[in-house]
Amino acid sequence: MRLRVAGSRRGRAGCLAVFGLAGAAVLSADSVPRGQEIFETKCSKCHALDKDEEGPRLRGVFGRPAASVPSFQYSDALKNSKFTWNETLLNTWLTDPDKMVPDTDMSFHLDSASDRKAVIDYLKSLAGR
Ligand code: HEC
Repeated sequence: MRLRVAGSRRGRAGCLAVFGLAGAAVLSADSVPRGQEIFETKCSKCHALDKDEEGPRLRGVFGRPAASVPSFQYSDALKNSKFTWNETLLNTWLTDPDKMVPDTDMSFHLDSASDRKAVIDYLKSLAGR
């Protein structure tokens, strides 16, 4: 197969498409370091892995019941919610916490679906460690 690269826009687009396909196969392995970077730049304003800050510690949050860190002062809204964090719920949460749990204290969301996936993969990779 010959790829036309230099100059033409179509050449570059073709190249990107090929790269995109190859990239997709390794996406979940790659998304862990990317998720860590997003965590460190965005979430760590309020969260640490092993101690409570403005938000609760997050190591092991994947698979943990919501609002279950005993030392953290959660909102009544989150305390009253009865679910265990999984991929779908974390994705809904990070899209819009206040829509999922009205009156939650977390006023932050991630617009990008791929950023959400990466950060969820990262949190998942820490579960049980
Ligand atoms: C502006 C501060 C802030 C930022 C930024 C923030 N959070 Fe939070 N987060 C909170 C607060 C406060 C709570 C507790 C919410 C409550 O009690 O209603 C919380 C709760 C959570 C919970 C529920 C934890 C549990 O024990 O049930 C998860 C999961 C979470 N945050 C993930 C994230 C992720 C992932 C990011 C980055 C993409 C992030 N948060 C960014 C403040 C923040």
